[in-house]
Amino acid sequence: MNITLRQLKVFAAVARNLSFTRAAEELCLTQPAVSMQVKQLETQLEGSLFEQLGKKIYLTEAGEEVYQYSRLITQQLDELQTVLQNLRGVGHGRLRIAVASTANYFVPTLLGTFCRRFPDVTVSLDITNREELLRQLADNDVDMVIMGQPPAEMDLEASAIMENPLVIVAPPDHPLAGQQQIPLSRLEKETFLVREPGSGTRMAMERFFNEYNIRITTGMEVGSNEAIKQSVQAGLGLGLLSRDTVQMELELGRLVILDVQEFPILRHWYVVYRRGKRLSSVSESFKTFLLTEAAHLLGRQRSDVEFPPANTRQSRARRRA
Ligand code: PGA
Repeated sequence: MNITLRQLKVFAAVARNLSFTRAAEELCLTQPAVSMQVKQLETQLEGSLFEQLGKKIYLTEAGEEVYQYSRLITQQLDELQTVLQNLRGVGHGRLRIAVASTANYFVPTLLGTFCRRFPDVTVSLDITNREELLRQLADNDVDMVIMGQPPAEMDLEASAIMENPLVIVAPPDHPLAGQQQIPLSRLEKETFLVREPGSGTRMAMERFFNEYNIRITTGMEVGSNEAIKQSVQAGLGLGLLSRDTVQMELELGRLVILDVQEFPILRHWYVVYRRGKRLSSVSESFKTFLLTEAAHLLGRQRSDVEFPPANTRQSRARRRA
């Protein structure tokens, strides 16, 4: 068998996306280049790895097997890189992190301090939404992620870094601006601009309103915090966002936080990685840095909540018993 790591990498991207086009975008290649690599791999392995039904492609049985092994091989190579990196010492190496789009408002500040301290560390930073972060954790594509509440059902190590309050924002001339203790039910008369499905902010918002039985009207679905803020300023509706995202607009008086009962929704930021993952010394240092210095550097309170939440731990223990 004369297959190459490159062929496996390209194949894995197509298998993960179940699309040649999306894999080509992800790898910054042309679609014919991607097809060619997969074809060559199929020739080497003497069998088809994908089958097409209608417009969709699916993995064949052999394709499923090759996909499993390609993930194991990538994992082993990553581990090898980690081991070699550790031999060189803490100040060297690569840190691959992905952060929730909402965390992007404070992570660069933290990275600035960390990178000044370790100038020989190369950082790769991906900014994406919650759903994609979970996918990256599942596929072992990153060393660690910074995200809101991690799902208890995934096998993850998570430690809280600091609080992440979610607030309702409005333009300063909104009729509710300046009112105190606005009842939750009053929100039913307003329109909310919402983040895209897969966003952690959106998930928290839906969970909260369901819990309190509040039926809100949703207006436009907007794919970024920035666009939500612009749309709220333009009077298109209210926004429910992490307070971290609106600091500047509050200071400039472009947005105000509404004083609504039961608000803010209290969430936390977590540093998260797969349980059992072998962390490089750079990743260990970054994790320690986040847990011991991040809140202080950002002028915030450290969170001491535990993960998984206590009730989940109990129910797991009960299930095990
Ligand atoms: P989001 O994540 O950027 O996907 O909304 C934030 C969060 O999980 O709180």
